[in-house]
Amino acid sequence: MPRSLPLDVQLSRRQALQLGAGAAMLGFVGACSATNDTESAIGPGAPQVRAYAEAKARRFPLGNVAEYDLRAGPSDVDIGGARNAAWVYDAQLPGPILRANVGDRVRVLFRNRLPAATTVHWHGLAIRNDMDGVPDVTQPPIPAGTEFTYEFIPPDPGTYWYHTHVDLQRGRGLYGALIIDDPQAPANWDAEFVVVLSDWLTSRTPTQVFDALRDGTMESMPEMTSPALGGDAGDVNYPLYLLNGKPPADPTAFTARPGQRILLRIINASDDTAFRVALGGHRLTVTDTDGFPVEPVDTDSVLIGMGERYDATVTLQDGAFPLVAVAEGKGGQAFAVVRTATGCRPDPAVAPAELRGQPLTVADLRATDAARLPAREPDTTLQASLGGNMNTYSWTINDQAYPEHTPLTVHQGQRARLVYTNTTTMYHPMHLHGHTFAVARPDGSGPRKDTVIVLPGQTIAADIEANNPGQWITHCHNDYHLAAGMTTIFSYLS
Ligand code: C2O
Ligand code: CU
Repeated sequence: MPRSLPLDVQLSRRQALQLGAGAAMLGFVGACSATNDTESAIGPGAPQVRAYAEAKARRFPLGNVAEYDLRAGPSDVDIGGARNAAWVYDAQLPGPILRANVGDRVRVLFRNRLPAATTVHWHGLAIRNDMDGVPDVTQPPIPAGTEFTYEFIPPDPGTYWYHTHVDLQRGRGLYGALIIDDPQAPANWDAEFVVVLSDWLTSRTPTQVFDALRDGTMESMPEMTSPALGGDAGDVNYPLYLLNGKPPADPTAFTARPGQRILLRIINASDDTAFRVALGGHRLTVTDTDGFPVEPVDTDSVLIGMGERYDATVTLQDGAFPLVAVAEGKGGQAFAVVRTATGCRPDPAVAPAELRGQPLTVADLRATDAARLPAREPDTTLQASLGGNMNTYSWTINDQAYPEHTPLTVHQGQRARLVYTNTTTMYHPMHLHGHTFAVARPDGSGPRKDTVIVLPGQTIAADIEANNPGQWITHCHNDYHLAAGMTTIFSYLS
C-alpha cells in the first residue's frame, strides 16, 4: 500500500467529522436477512425473473436481434500525447457507443481479456435481474480470459451507459455510452453529440488512491467544496478531466452547421466528480434525465452527478464554441469544441458566462405527464440512512458497510418508497438498479430517475413500482464510496 502522497492525487481537507455516533462502526452483524420462514429472496435464477423476461419479449414481439462483441482489456491510451495505461473496452476510451432499439434482443458477447475478473452493468435499464452485472448478487464475476453473453431487452428509450461493476475498475477506463432509440418517435433534432465525462488519474490506479484514503496517507489539499453540492465536492482531486476520453489540451471537436438543432446526451461516468456543464454562447433546453422525459426547461448550465444523464437540445449559432464541464468545486474542467464555422478555437481554460448562475438540478425538473408514475400510496416505506466515517474511510447505509447489510425488502406488485437521508457532509448520487423511480413529490411531478443527488442533510424519497423481481443493489455512484460500503440490496421476496 502506498505510504506516500500519490503525486497526482490529494485528499480534500475535510472538516473534523461531524458525524453522529450512529455512524460509528458496528460489530459484524452477519449476512442477516429479513426473511422469515415462509418468505425467501427471489434470486437471479428464479422463475419470476424468467417470467419478467418473457413478459418483455411478448410486449415487444417484433424486436430485432442487436448483436455486439465487446472486449475488455488493458490498453495504452493516448491522453493529450501521453501514453496512459488503462483498462478499456475495445481498446478505446470511452468504450464504443452501443446502440439498440427499444424491444430489441440485445446480445453482447463479452470477452474478458483483463488480468482480473469483471462484469458489465447496463446502467439505468430495467432489464432482467440475471443480466444486471453485479458481482456475487446477479452473477459470479466473469473470470479473466473467459467470455459471458449478456442478453436482454431494453424496455425504455433514452441515454444510458455501461460500465464494469467490480472493485474500482471503472476509473481505469471501463465505461461507455448505451443509447436506446425509439423507432416510433422520430428524432426532432438534426444531429446528436454524445458527451461522456470522466475524471482521470494519470499515474495511479483508483485502487492505489482508495488504499491511500483508507490508510490516511493522502496529504491534505485545498478545500474542495461547492455551494451547489451543499458541502464537500469530493474526496479526490484529479490531474485531468476528460470529455470523450480527451483532455482539454487535445479536445474533441463536434461539428455541425449553423442553425442546426443538436441533441446533447451528457453522461457523467466519473468516479468522484460532479460536473457543471455549459455551452458558451447558448442556452440549453433540458428534455430528459436518466432516459426519461421532463417538461422542457431552459437553463444556462446543468449540474450532473456521477451516474446521471441529462439530454438537452440546443440550436447552434455560427462559430466555434466551448463546451465546458467544470469539475464542480474542484477547479479543473473538461472541454470540447462545438464548431459550425472555421475560426479560432476557444481557449480550453475558458469559463463561459453561462457557468456563473445557479445550475439546473433535479429540483428544477418535472416529469412529463406521460412519464409520471401514477399516484399511489406506498405499500411499504424503506429507510436508507447514508452515513460516513472519514477516520476509517467507511461509507455506510443504515450504519452498515456492504457486504454487511440488511436488505430492504419488497414484494412484486408493491409500490415502495425508498427514503434516502444524507447524514454526512458530502453529497451522494444514489442509484437504484433495475428500476426508474420517481422522485417523490406531493403533487406527483417528480422526474423519473435512476440516480439522484442527495445533498448533505437532505432527504429524498424515491417512489418505485416494484415490478422487476430479483436482487437489486442501491448504492452511491461515487466509486470510492461504493468500494467503502455504501451499498445495500433492494430485495424482492416471494
Ligand atoms: Cu452505474 Cu451500480 O451502477
Ligand atoms: Cu457517496
